[in-house]
Amino acid sequence: MTLQERDFKVIWHPFTQQKNRKPPIPIVKGKGTLLFDELENEYIDAISSWWVTIHGHAHPYIADKLYQQAITLEQVIFAGFTHEPAVSLAERLLPILPNDFSKIFYSDNGSTSTEVAIKMSLQYWWNSHKEVTDDGMEKPKRTKLLAFNNAYHGDTFGAMSVSDRSVFTLAFHDKLFEVLFIDTPSENNITSLKELINKEGENIAAFIYEPLVQGAGGIKMYEAVWMNELLKSIKQHDIICIADEVMTGFGRTGHLFASEYMEERPDIICLSKGLTGGTMALGVTACTDRIYEAYLSDDKLKTFFHGHSFTANPLACTAALASLDLLLEEECFEKIEWLTEQNKEFANQLESDFLSEVIKNIRTLGTLLAFEIVEGKDEYLNNISSTITEKALNEGVYIRPLGNTVYIMPPYCITKEELEKVYDTLLMLIS
Ligand SMILES: Cc1ncc(COP(=O)(O)O)c(C=O)c1O
Repeated sequence: MTLQERDFKVIWHPFTQQKNRKPPIPIVKGKGTLLFDELENEYIDAISSWWVTIHGHAHPYIADKLYQQAITLEQVIFAGFTHEPAVSLAERLLPILPNDFSKIFYSDNGSTSTEVAIKMSLQYWWNSHKEVTDDGMEKPKRTKLLAFNNAYHGDTFGAMSVSDRSVFTLAFHDKLFEVLFIDTPSENNITSLKELINKEGENIAAFIYEPLVQGAGGIKMYEAVWMNELLKSIKQHDIICIADEVMTGFGRTGHLFASEYMEERPDIICLSKGLTGGTMALGVTACTDRIYEAYLSDDKLKTFFHGHSFTANPLACTAALASLDLLLEEECFEKIEWLTEQNKEFANQLESDFLSEVIKNIRTLGTLLAFEIVEGKDEYLNNISSTITEKALNEGVYIRPLGNTVYIMPPYCITKEELEKVYDTLLMLIS
């Protein structure tokens, strides 16, 4: 039996309708931007394998550090024990995060990092601002959450609740908690958004947002100037601001973190994906002292009762430390800047060469570039996605459009020739 046949018998793949599914491509090796299949075909991974592989595949520096850690300490319970990689990673992350964060809480992936942030902020209000209701019950002063329409924060229940009600969440709507959803800010709506915040602000416990780019919702971008205005207004009401930088973190948008584009900074930040250079699963939720101190108490009920078997796994923390070494080298930021410029030039070319009947909404921020194909509805279920993926694969480029939204998010180590090949493939697809 081939690997594909064996896979078909035993595997259920994510985000994949299993009926009549196309056989998955058996990948046997990765190197830099390239993925190699069983037949030695090679593909440029133009979306960094679901936005994680920032330094390319099988990076020898990360691999070597992992090997050394694996023969030293591979895993240890993180309640009552600690270890060097977890402490070093927290020590190195805190000074580079986009605010005065004071503590790092580890978990396993992007969804758990936002789940932790949601629980952390709700329990903040429970721990420190309770009131007694008419029937003598104690309840936190604030319980409402605020999020953006079109948001995506992950697939666990809390993360789904603060995400847009979409095809991803449809089967669970009656199980999701209520959230106040607003549009991302713009020149046109900022006044009405501020009015709403002034009206509702004192009831809102926390606001969660993907800064400047909504990823899975269709790589939708919005402007820092209006986001800063909105954050200013939200912060006036003491609402906890949670920046979900799972996708935008670690250089993706041109800055180390997208929150750096705004003066108003978050109280909690969620990280994953590029955190380990895409090598291991790891989530981080960092908070400021304001949040942490609400948990310090002689009352054991004010403990944050959350954790996972693999919390702060030493291998994952080691991969993150190695990835940070690579990311913080000058050469890496030069590559990010170069990629940013190339994307801008290519976006200008698309803008001038292509009719609005073919593609629309050409946009770019840092290493990201996206546009919509004008065919069918603007939605995730648009079938054009699989057609485009297949055609690009035939050219040796891997992309995975979100419906009719075509985007690239390459590893920062992509070469000039590889990037040209990706752009040429996009041109071929829309010509
Ligand atoms: C902004 C954002 N938050 C959270 C998640 C969930 O991360 P994970 O897939 O690691 O659970 C994603 C995944 O795409 C994301 O883009």
